[in-house]
Amino acid sequence: MATAPPRGALIVFEGGDRCGKTTQCSKIVERLKSQGVDAVMWRFPDRSTSIGAAINAYLSNQSQLDDAVIHMLFVANRLEKREEMLRLLAGGTTLVLDRYSYSGVAYTAAKAVAHLSIDYCKSLEVVLPAADLVVHMSMSPEATAARGGYGEERYEKVEFQARVMEAFAQLRDERWAAIDAAGTIDAIHEQVAAVVEPAVRRAQEGAPLGRLWD
Ligand code: TMP
Repeated sequence: MATAPPRGALIVFEGGDRCGKTTQCSKIVERLKSQGVDAVMWRFPDRSTSIGAAINAYLSNQSQLDDAVIHMLFVANRLEKREEMLRLLAGGTTLVLDRYSYSGVAYTAAKAVAHLSIDYCKSLEVVLPAADLVVHMSMSPEATAARGGYGEERYEKVEFQARVMEAFAQLRDERWAAIDAAGTIDAIHEQVAAVVEPAVRRAQEGAPLGRLWD
């Protein structure tokens, strides 16, 4: 009987807006590929689906939505990709995600709406796979605000981003690696590689894929 291939790793990048996550995701995917690892990058929200289009309209201030509704749309946008995620991981593809459930929980928690507590938000996504590694890129909200294009989207406000950072701090777990996002692209990339490469190896060697928030 044929044995299953080694599974892919689920690597998640998190952090505030404009901290350089997308650049680092692309660079680590290229590096992994050059090492022969089958790796792809995804972004959440995935704005290409109909749910993603509704999210995009909200983020670009073209629509107004209740806080619970936009939260559920972000959750649904991940759940609609669940089967494909599981299939890719089981088939040996490493997924590098530019944001995941941690953003969902942290951004909603930063709104401090009583009926959208951290525990409640977490409970909505427990059917998703857990990250093998969360790379949290941290940078002061004032520094990210100085970056080009800042302020175009709904949540790009210094005071709100500071609350998002506090919420992220409450989500730290043993899978979490904190990276200072204020260095050069290449220096940050080396720090990222130093935590991502072992996580990919652990998955290839059979570390079980967990359930989110377990
Ligand atoms: P992006 O700039 O990485 O495309 O993310 C879009 C914005 O949506 C960003 O401000 C973070 C926010 N967000 C949430 O509020 N909840 C979520 O679940 C996700 C994935 C992103």
